[in-house]
Amino acid sequence: MTDVTDGVLHTLFRSEQGGHEQVVLCQDRASGLKAVIALHSTALGPALGGTRFYPYASEEDAVADALNLSRGMSYKNALAGLEHGGGKAVIIGDPELIKTEQLLLAYGRFVASLGGRYVTACDVGTYVADMDVVARENRWTTGRSPENGGAGDSSVLTAYGVFQGMRASAQHAWGDPTLHGRRVGVAGVGKVGHYLVEHLLQDGAEVVITDVREESVRRITDKFPQVTVVADTDALISTEGLDVYAPCALGGALNDESVAALTAKVVCGAANNQLAHPGIEKDIADRGILYAPDYVVNAGGVIQVADELHGFDFDRCKAKASKIFDTTLAIFARAKEDGIPPAAAADRIAEQRMAEARLG
Ligand SMILES: NC(=O)c1ccc[n+]([C@@H]2O[C@H](COP(=O)([O-])OP(=O)(O)OC[C@H]3O[C@@H](n4cnc5c(N)ncnc54)[C@H](O)[C@@H]3O)[C@@H](O)[C@H]2O)c1
Repeated sequence: MTDVTDGVLHTLFRSEQGGHEQVVLCQDRASGLKAVIALHSTALGPALGGTRFYPYASEEDAVADALNLSRGMSYKNALAGLEHGGGKAVIIGDPELIKTEQLLLAYGRFVASLGGRYVTACDVGTYVADMDVVARENRWTTGRSPENGGAGDSSVLTAYGVFQGMRASAQHAWGDPTLHGRRVGVAGVGKVGHYLVEHLLQDGAEVVITDVREESVRRITDKFPQVTVVADTDALISTEGLDVYAPCALGGALNDESVAALTAKVVCGAANNQLAHPGIEKDIADRGILYAPDYVVNAGGVIQVADELHGFDFDRCKAKASKIFDTTLAIFARAKEDGIPPAAAADRIAEQRMAEARLG
């Protein structure tokens, strides 16, 4: 047995990071499909999480990613108040080179074989049009197009949820649930970031943005000339008088350098996996910065795909996404009570919910 395989099996069966219920290795030679479906937990209901299509360096890396991502989904779904456990699938290979209808249909049959224990959706490398194909083989595919019974673009509710998390952060930091008069820096004004900017302006915030794509910046400044643009994220986080930093681009935004340079009192944004390494959440708290855990405030998208299973209703979803406000406040309260950073408090609350579901 290789060290790597030993590492994966260790995660699966023995480590605290593991405890996965089921991992399915899938192969369809005719289409070239190689996939891993990992179900971390079904304690709260069928495992829900997207399908990542990515050219992993090795099969072991793919399994490790599926284990890691599915575990993250258990926590996210638990805190979003969903009746869903955590799962995730990865398809191994470059989607540009190997994605075909035949391969997606073969994948859809593997999802079907789990009989509803796993519900899939889009992730990096898979899109609404792909989910329309996967859905032809099973009843447990979300993230489909509205023409095929889906809910469409999830970034609207994701941005709305992030805004609710930011209002809760303002309440905790300054005693008032509004960004009115606050200077907020948004790094990345793509699908989610641009809706977030709209919420912020409507609430009376002063908005500073940056994006590596000129097109994304122009889409904002054409519509909202009052928004300030800075050259890059380094310039954004050291903007004078910045109250809130909203990372809405890639992961790893909060690293040793950025945390040391931050002038904002609050961090709350949509990007996944903002904490660059374990322990950084403590450095953030030690600097007196309030961090709203990413997976809590960006749950609007998963709330939307979960709703799709029951026939999508925008207002019902928006009401659920509004609860991100209360959940974020509860996390800050728990962090204070237990003397731990909010990221650790969020994990504790999620673990408690899963444990209670198992006992009940
Ligand atoms: N779309 C959703 O519903 C959803 C749900 C949950 C989490 N998220 C997360 O939120 C983040 C944004 O998602 P999105 O759907 O808006 O993606 P997107 O690709 O539409 O937007 C990302 C934007 O960030 C910009 N960007 C990339 N690198 C940058 C950098 N170094 N500095 C500044 N800008 C940079 C891109 O040019 C782009 O405009 C991602 O981390 C995503 O995983 C999205």
